[in-house]
This record gives sequence, C-alpha cells and structure tokens, in this order.
Amino acid sequence: CLDIRKLYGQGDVFTYDPGFTSTASCESTITFIDGDKGELWYRGYPIEQLADNSNYLEVCYLLLYGELPNESQLKDFVARVTNHTMVHEQMHNFFRGFRRDAHPMATMVGVVGAMSAFYHDSTDIGDPWQREVASIRLIAKLPTIAAMAYKYSIGQPFVYPNNELDYASNFLNMCFSVPAAKYTVDPALAKAMDRIFTLHADHEQNASTSTVRLAGSSGANPFACIAAGIACLWGPAHGGANQAALEMLQEIGTVDQIPEYIRRAKDKDDPFRLMGFGHRVYKNFDPRAKVMKESADEVLDLLGIENNETLKVAKELEKIALEDEYFVERKLYPNVDFYSGIILSAMGFPTSMFTPIFALSRTVGWISQWKEMLSDPQNKIGRPRQLYVGADKRDYVPVANR
Ligand code: ACO
Repeated sequence: CLDIRKLYGQGDVFTYDPGFTSTASCESTITFIDGDKGELWYRGYPIEQLADNSNYLEVCYLLLYGELPNESQLKDFVARVTNHTMVHEQMHNFFRGFRRDAHPMATMVGVVGAMSAFYHDSTDIGDPWQREVASIRLIAKLPTIAAMAYKYSIGQPFVYPNNELDYASNFLNMCFSVPAAKYTVDPALAKAMDRIFTLHADHEQNASTSTVRLAGSSGANPFACIAAGIACLWGPAHGGANQAALEMLQEIGTVDQIPEYIRRAKDKDDPFRLMGFGHRVYKNFDPRAKVMKESADEVLDLLGIENNETLKVAKELEKIALEDEYFVERKLYPNVDFYSGIILSAMGFPTSMFTPIFALSRTVGWISQWKEMLSDPQNKIGRPRQLYVGADKRDYVPVANR
C-alpha cells in the first residue's frame, strides 16, 4: 500500500477492485436492485407492477423525468416520441454500405454512432434543450434503426414507421410487414413485445450503462455514448447472452441431453457456461426472469405453439439446476435472458435480432443515466487507475544489441 501511494502520490486510500464488484461509481435515483431479495425497482416502483400495469413509453417517461406522467404529460410525451420515429433519408445509404450478412448489432453500432453526423442540432450537451431533443430522437429512432438493420440483413425493403401505431406495434410492423402482403400486428403480441421492452428498460450500473456514463463523462455527444453502450451490450456475458441462451437451449435439443450440459457447466476445465444463468448482482431469482417465464407461456399459448421442445428444455434445465449443489452454492439462478429468446423466437425473430431488441429497450435507461450524470455537480471525467505490475525502469537497448 505504501509503495502504491509513493508511486501515485495521491489520496490516502487506493482500491484495487477488478470488475468493480464493490465500488460505486456514482449516486443515482433511477433504479434500485436488491440482489439478495431478487427485487428491481424503477424510481421506486417494483418491476412486476410496471410490467403488469404500465407500458413502455410511460416507463420511459418515469425513467427520464423521475415520476409517472399524468394523462396530459403522457399524451404530450407519446406525441413527441412519435413525431421523431423517421430517420434521415440519407441514412438509408449508410445501411446499404454494410454487407448483407453483417450482424444487426454491428450495423447498429455504426448507424447509431453516425447519428451525430445526421443530427448536429442535438449534439451540444451544454444546451438542456438539445439534450432533451437528442433523448427523444434516440428513443424514437432506435426501433426504426433496429428494424432497418433486420430488413437489410434479410434482403427485404425497409418499412417506414407508421405513426398511427403504438411503439411496440410499430416496431413489429417495421420488422414483419412487406409491401406484397397485408400484415396486421396482433395486439396481444404487441403487448408481449412492450413488456419485453419494459423489463429491459434499465438496470443501474451494468457494463453497458457504465460504458455510456464513462463515454459521456468526457463530454462526448449522446449518439456516440449510446453507440458505445450498444457495443458493450453485444458481449455474450451481457446482452449477447439472450442470443447465446436460446442457441444453447436449441443445441441441448431434448430433455435427456440436459445432464451432459449440466456436467459441462460444472467442469472447470471446460469453458462452457449455462447461458442465461447467473448474475453479478442477483443472488436470487432475477425478478425479470419470473415475468418473462409467464410471458413465454402466454405467447406460445397465443400462437398455438404446443409442446415447444425449447421451452420444455428450458423449464427442465431450470428445475435441475436449481436443485444442483453447484448452482445452489454459487447462487446461480436464471436471469432475464433465459426466457426472452423463447418469446422472441416464437414471434418470428431470428436469434441475431435478440440483442438489437435489448439495445433498443435499454436506450432509455442509458439516456436517463447519461442525463443524470450530466446534471450531477460531482460529475467529472471517469478515469480509473491501475496497479502497474510491469517492468521496472530500464534503459533503451539499440536493436543491434538485443
Ligand atoms: N454457468 C456455470 N457456472 C457459472 C455460471 C454459469 N452461467 N455463472 C457463474 N458461474 C460460476 C463461475 O464459474 C464461478 O465459479 P467458481 O466460484 O467455482 O470459480 C462462480 O459461478 C462465480 O462466477 P463469476 O464469473 O465470478 O461471477 P460474475 O458475477 O463475475 O459473472 C455473469 C456474472 C457474467 C453473468 C456469469 O454468471 C455468466 O457468465 N453467466 C452466463 C452469461 C449470462 O447469462 N449473462 C447475462 C447476464 S444478465 C445481463 O447482462 C442482461
């Protein structure tokens, strides 16, 4: 410790905390998680109540402004978001520059980063009005961008937003309608989609949110910050787990294969992990996973999908893992990603769209956290320190003498 102080010459305490398991990086009033009890609140409201009674845009308002809106506030907010659903026509060309087989997340990182090249009039973070406009633009345009990334990847024409539809229905319409055939969004599926958006809307200082805050702490514009968050979310240990979880369930295939995968997950010489299991903060059931499990049953029922083998495998895997000493000791429970893929796949989304859907849902959380950070008088550039464990000071050796 003395050596470290001598080396860095600053402060009395210097902590080394890989993975930030016990370091708070900020104060926040947005989201609260009690990992031991398995509770999640947005601005004090339990996630279960919001998932049952509210809707995504109302939750967006709550996260952004701190309180649930009254009727006229909600109407005004929905109108403002709806007014911004289109993207600049030249952005179509930007999409066309990507390979068709690019992962939609790769396209989204590029396109969202490029928004700062299209919407200059909302990049001055010192101007509260521009910050507000950028926030609304991001919430409004992310579904359009995610749907365009999808359409581009399957070689279909882009579908423009339809402002007569609600937020979730509009997203489903942009993904699944085609000019040649009539497509009507099923309101029950739109409700399930809206619920998925709500459950993913914020989750305090996770890796992608911390990335957005860190990028924003340097004064970077909001579009650049959200692109950084999308890039971080893509990793399989974070948002990419929803794709990985469904692919794993499909690979397991049948219930009789489960014991082999459980064995592999426990084997420390095998890098395999049960995707959709475990969480840095939850040491109990992820409350979002409980809601998601109910939703999975409802959606499959609605679509008349009986005896879905993947859902059977998921339920049985959950049961076996929750009784297994290895998972019990380590408090490894299903997380939000365990069941979401089953719903999305039943709706017709390919696995590559799972993480883009997570990204569009989480945009409001990232923006709320970014705005909170900018209005915090304690805000300063994020600059972690390190423990240097490299070579001692030494003299340069000319190449001929090495
Ligand atoms: N399968 C098998 N073993 C696991 C799993 C898993 N899914 N998750 C953790 N473990 C084990 C580890 O091997 C370790 O065992 P050990 O103590 O014997 O070495 C112990 O549990 C603790 O694991 P850590 O990796 O130290 O826990 P950490 O908090 O760093 O990681 C994480 C959390 C990344 C979510 C991890 O549980 C994981 O990789 N899960 C699978 C991926 C996943 O589902 N991610 C989504 C997270 S939710 C979200 O981002 C939306």
